[in-house]
Amino acid sequence: MRLSVIGCGYLGAVHATAMASIGHDVVGFDVDAEKISRLSSGDAPFFEPGFDALLRDTLATGRLRFSTDTSDLASARVHFIAVGTPQSEDGDGADMRFVDAAVRSLLPVLSEGDLVVGKSTVPVGTAQRLAEMVAPTGALLMWNPEFLREGFAVEDTLQPDRIVYGTSHSGGPEVAVLDEVYAKALDAGIPRLVTDYATSELVKVAANAFLATKISFINAMSEIADATGADVTQLADAIGYDVRIGRRFLNAGVGFGGGCLPKDIRAFAARGEELGHGRALRFLREVDEINLRQRSRLVDVVTEELGGSVAGRRIAILGLAFKPNSDDTRDSPALDIATRLHGLGADVIAYDPEAIETARRVRPHLHFAQTLDEALSGAEATVVVTEWDQFRQLDPDTTSQLVAETRIIDGRNCLDAQRWRAAGWSYRGLGRR
Ligand code: UDX
Repeated sequence: MRLSVIGCGYLGAVHATAMASIGHDVVGFDVDAEKISRLSSGDAPFFEPGFDALLRDTLATGRLRFSTDTSDLASARVHFIAVGTPQSEDGDGADMRFVDAAVRSLLPVLSEGDLVVGKSTVPVGTAQRLAEMVAPTGALLMWNPEFLREGFAVEDTLQPDRIVYGTSHSGGPEVAVLDEVYAKALDAGIPRLVTDYATSELVKVAANAFLATKISFINAMSEIADATGADVTQLADAIGYDVRIGRRFLNAGVGFGGGCLPKDIRAFAARGEELGHGRALRFLREVDEINLRQRSRLVDVVTEELGGSVAGRRIAILGLAFKPNSDDTRDSPALDIATRLHGLGADVIAYDPEAIETARRVRPHLHFAQTLDEALSGAEATVVVTEWDQFRQLDPDTTSQLVAETRIIDGRNCLDAQRWRAAGWSYRGLGRR
């Protein structure tokens, strides 16, 4: 099928490439000429395992191209909207300017029977509004939220847990068209739900709100564990065996960040208020607060471990990305903690296997190490804030040869505390004995 994807950021670039890789003819569109030129030459503008190779292989088939020219979209019958919906500059709501501009730019190329498919995460009510914009062209609009996780973007696009279609009238001709786009996944038995617009929009924000709540729940427990001498990791293991609860997303630590969870829960709470039902989503404000408090708690632990002040003390920060296998530092707890410690006068040196360049762009004043060993060298405190395998696999004995003081603060509760203590280190986690 002939498809277009408007917006070639994380979501759009992966979606365009994945759709072409399974046989569709795809044009990816973005207003950012540099991004389009990099993608066209097979150079991924972000780090995502498996994406580089898929992009190069798919470009070679001739079924995938990237463009900054809207007239190139005219031949497509299905147009995916995959632009960002960041937090507004003046509040918690979502900034809808990119979605609105994307739909407006499509209007001149749409014709009877075309399908516009929204994938961006939007406030409930958006699809209905956009459907009215599109209606005079004779095209139809569907909402088809994406659930991709960074680090697993290709896998999540090709083999999602479920596929959701929001339509204005269930079972219309547009359902068959989208079924053809996703034929491969549907043949593999991936569940597909057809809903109204509002439900499809809510599925995405509700899923992210639930995940964020789960993380903040365990982080709240970590605070209580610290106050009582309990161990939050054992607590998570024990409650996680209950299948109704489940162990995933129960890792306490410096909390969630990234380009989705934080802004999505704020936008959802803001939308609840607009709808006159702010009370129903007020708990999300608490979820956000618990999450941000974890960052302050970690800074306090580091300060305490260094005897009350970090000023002038050499601190190795291991991790800058908001999670491993990503170079994304948007709303990253790791980068925030590095920045705060630097602001308190610490001699911070930070290392991340992939995210140094993205971090440098937003925090050029921070000091970045070229290698892990360089970061560790002479450190008076070592602080793990992103649980990359490279940090999890650190050997306490070898590491102690590099640092000035054997003091480790595990902001992701990802190290074996007993092993580090047995090697003579002072170990502190969040909510761990
Ligand atoms: C998330 C959703 O998972 C995905 O479905 C949606 O499409 C986009 O938002 P992503 O932002 O890539 O995906 O990251 P995710 O794996 O959900 O992790 C989010 C944050 O939570 C990370 O900072 C991670 O470190 C943190 N986290 C996750 C925890 O602190 N504890 C956990 O137990 C799990």
